[in-house]
Parts: sequence; C-alpha cells; structure tokens
Amino acid sequence: MSSSTAKVASLSIGAVLLALSAPYLPTISPPHLTSFIGDFPIPDYPFAFPFLRNDTTSRAHEVADTSFVCDTLHSYRTELVSLEPLIIYIHNLITPDEIASLLETAEPKFAPSQVTKQGRQQNTNDRTSESAGLPREDPTVQCVLNRARSFMGTMLRDGWDEMGPPQLVRYSTGQRFNVHHDWFNYPIWATDGTDRKWNRVASFFAILQDNCTGGETHFPFAKSIVPPSPKGELPWGGGQQDHIQKAQPEEVIKPLWREHEDGGLAFRPVAGNAVFWINLHPNGTGDERTNHAGLPLESGRKTAMNIWPRRYWAYE
Ligand SMILES: *[C@@H]1O[C@H](CO)[C@@H](O)[C@H](O)[C@H]1NC(C)=O
Ligand SMILES: *[C@@H]1O[C@H](CO)[C@@H](O)[C@H](O)[C@H]1NC(C)=O
Ligand SMILES: *[C@@H]1O[C@H](CO)[C@@H](O)[C@H](O)[C@H]1NC(C)=O
Repeated sequence: MSSSTAKVASLSIGAVLLALSAPYLPTISPPHLTSFIGDFPIPDYPFAFPFLRNDTTSRAHEVADTSFVCDTLHSYRTELVSLEPLIIYIHNLITPDEIASLLETAEPKFAPSQVTKQGRQQNTNDRTSESAGLPREDPTVQCVLNRARSFMGTMLRDGWDEMGPPQLVRYSTGQRFNVHHDWFNYPIWATDGTDRKWNRVASFFAILQDNCTGGETHFPFAKSIVPPSPKGELPWGGGQQDHIQKAQPEEVIKPLWREHEDGGLAFRPVAGNAVFWINLHPNGTGDERTNHAGLPLESGRKTAMNIWPRRYWAYE
C-alpha cells in the first residue's frame, strides 16, 4: 500500500469515527501528527466562525490605530519560477513601512521556534530560529493578509477557507531550518466549533530583514521553468538590477534565485520580496516536492513572515 493510499485510508477511518462520535466533536484531539512543521501552538487563539464574520466589527480595529494607513493599491510584480510544484516569486509584496510596523509589533514576542512532531510542539535542533506570533487584528497584519488573500483569488473560498494566523521567524548566525514541509500529514480539526478539518494549502514566505549572508530558502525538488540563458546573461532581477546598476554600474548583481549545486532552486533573502508556493494536490494530499529548508545563516540576521492559508473540509 503506497503511503498516499494509507493516508486516504486513515482519513476515511477518521471520518467514520467522526460520524460515530458526532456529539462529542469538540473534545476529540487532533490526529497523530508525524509531519515536521514549524508553527506556534495550533491555533494560538480562538477563531471566529469565518462564515459569520462581521466585517463592520473587524474594521473597528483599523479605525482605532491612525498611525498606519494601508495602501490598498500597492503594486507588486510576480515571476513564475517553477510549475511542479507551483512556485511564484513576488517582488515588493511588503512595503518598508509595513515591514517596520510588523517588526515593531513582533519584537517583544520572539521565542525559540518549535516544530510539531508526533503531535507535540517541541524545541529541536532541526529548527534553531526564533518565532513570534502576530495579532491578526493589527492593522498592518490585516493589510498584508488582505493583499496576500487577494493574490490567491478564487483559490480560497470566501466564508469557508481563511488565511490562518501569521508569524514572524528570525534567524541569526548559524541558525537554520532543516528540510521540512509546511503541510500536515493529516488535516487538523477546526477549533471554531464547526465539524471541519483544515490543512495549509499554500505558503507565503516574505522576507522582512535581509541583513545577512547565507540563509537562502532551498527547495531541493523545484525545477526552473526556463533553462539558463545560452548567452550566460544574468537572470531578470525584477527591475531592481536596472535600478541598482545605474547607481553602481561596477557592482555585480546577484540573482534573486539560482539553481542549487545539490539540485533544486535556492532563493536569496531580499527584504520586501516573497516566495509563494502551493502545498497540497487538488485531492488534498501534501506535495512532497514543496519540501524546503532554511539554509544556515553565515552572518547577520534574517527575519521573515510566514503566511499559511488554510483549506477546509467538511465532515458531516
Ligand atoms: C493525489 O494527487 C496526487 C497528484 O496528482 C497523486 O500523486 C496522489 O496519488 C493522489 N492521492 C490520492 C490518494 O488520490
Ligand atoms: C455587524 O455589526 C454591526 C455593528 O455591531 C451591526 O450593526 C450589524 O448589524 C452587523 N451585521 C451583521 C450582518 O451581523
Ligand atoms: C545587521 O546585523 C548586524 C549583526 O546582527 C548588526 O550588528 C547590525 O546592526 C545590522 N544592521 C542593520 C542595518 O540592521
């Protein structure tokens, strides 16, 4: 029996157990997790019913803080990098003002990152960074999440799927995150009182601070859509090359991403830019080709924002 068949079999068993014990749903603990994912406790605060959300109420927070104004027309550019899995590089997703605000909000909250193994949150040498949960009612967090939400378009179903709680992650010299995937091997029970389960359908990894050397994000199984230039030209730099080369014509501009010597693609941390990828196959199983690692930081500091949009399934 292949492992994917096994997954489906255990999902069905889960559904049967669920049907038998329907009145006690909220007390059933999440299925045994064997995946290897960095996260804050799941969930780190109770969620509102997404389909009962009252937008009038949530906007009250934006009015409360007048120091930040969301630029809802902010433009970014996208670059298709890999088809299987789908990886899109996003230039200028987050503005310098938003970065400053997110860092200020998160600064007091940083604590050693944990991973979920055998269903437990653990500290581990596989992941040596620090993480900080972000409050979703914060105006800057809402601004960035709304932009990411609109990037995904119909891939999320309004009133059903949701963006999930975002977090910041910070790496200092020598810190890393070994190869892992962001999706869970088995969907997670919703904690909003609905008979639903969810998994991380996609990931945004947006860089906020790139004051470092090393620390690329490496996808060992990703393949570039295009072959390298036959004339050895530099890859497109999203326009930043033109800009910088005018100022410093002698400087050699490093590409934003490259073919890694051990295979796959490696993305250099550049503040404001993000990598987006799709974690789940249409049938809901995880795509192993999205496995990735945060390569060790050689020096300095790298801070990034994780956004993990959730796809939900109903269990009736
Ligand atoms: C789900 O879809 C993927 C990609 O098409 C496939 O490799 C996998 O076998 C499927 N799993 C099941 C259980 O259908
Ligand atoms: C949303 O909240 C506002 C203010 O509390 C209220 O006036 C409005 O009726 C609510 N809308 C819905 C659909 O519940
Ligand atoms: C860059 O990182 C180094 C080492 O962490 C730190 O000393 C320095 O102040 C940082 N510079 C900026 C501009 O953040």
